[in-house]
Amino acid sequence: MRADQPRTPDFIYGTAWKEDRTAPLTELAIRSGFRAIDTANQRKHYYEGGVGEALAAVYGAGIVTRSDVFLQTKFTYQRGQDHRLPFDPKAPIALQVEQSLTSSLDHLGTDYVDSFVLHGPSTSYEWSADDQEAWQAMMKERDRQRTRMLGVSNVSLLHLQQMIAIHGEVPAFVQNRCYARLGWDSDVRAFCREHSIIYQGFSLLTANLEIVRHSTIARIAFAKNASPAQVVFAFARTIGILPLTGTSSEEHMKQDLASRELSLSEDEVQKIKSLSG
Ligand SMILES: NC(=O)c1ccc[n+]([C@@H]2O[C@H](COP(=O)([O-])OP(=O)(O)OC[C@H]3O[C@@H](n4cnc5c(N)ncnc54)[C@H](OP(=O)(O)O)[C@@H]3O)[C@@H](O)[C@H]2O)c1
Repeated sequence: MRADQPRTPDFIYGTAWKEDRTAPLTELAIRSGFRAIDTANQRKHYYEGGVGEALAAVYGAGIVTRSDVFLQTKFTYQRGQDHRLPFDPKAPIALQVEQSLTSSLDHLGTDYVDSFVLHGPSTSYEWSADDQEAWQAMMKERDRQRTRMLGVSNVSLLHLQQMIAIHGEVPAFVQNRCYARLGWDSDVRAFCREHSIIYQGFSLLTANLEIVRHSTIARIAFAKNASPAQVVFAFARTIGILPLTGTSSEEHMKQDLASRELSLSEDEVQKIKSLSG
């Protein structure tokens, strides 16, 4: 464990789908107060090199140092990539993991990340032999201290149960799309609570527009002089979710961070929970 590690984050800025705006928006997010950045070595959806450019700019400007920032990246199997691969597709998966992380460290201008995440298991119905090989390679990277912690993304309860049975350990993080209609991913979150895994939720707004636009949320937001988005982020945090936002708006960056100051009563939390049945 590194002595200079940043604290576990309370809000993560996501860098997907920003292409040539990745560097300026990531820099703006850090200047606005975000101290945790999520990216992936998957050029199809992320421009990891742009995150590295933003980091170089904020380090150079003296805004933060490497140890102030929580950096998370991902290994993505070939099937989730386009032709711009960060590894040799003919290499065994374990070597692909190593090559992908080497390339991420180069993009990000660092010798370690804080969290290295398997972007998604190879199948939706089981923790496969490929996943076992990838995870073992990821554990090796943790032993080499090229990552402080490990995570998995886009997983079901079954994946997590099989993972723990096979490897005898659970990840530090789960990162999932969080649908209100699935009780805000209640079964996976319950497993995470039980095993002290930090649950990161994405698409909190975009997957739940019916909740964001609901009159109950509007009433709570009005009473607290907040926006519906802020109420959803505050709700997520109250029920134990570490939220991600990928906003491109400076105003929304400020609002999203300010939602950390918003507290909801037990009654308000119950009302929001009941909206999703
Ligand atoms: N592991 C995975 O497979 C996976 C998949 C998807 C995403 N992610 C990660 O999660 C991050 C976030 O992605 P996301 O799916 O949650 O979507 P997102 O890219 O964060 O989109 C959020 C939407 O909410 C809006 N928004 C944010 N704050 C707002 C506010 N205060 N008021 C009103 N609107 C607001 C944004 O609009 P404005 O831009 O106008 O604010 C945007 O349209 C990604 O960048 C990525 O890092 C991971």
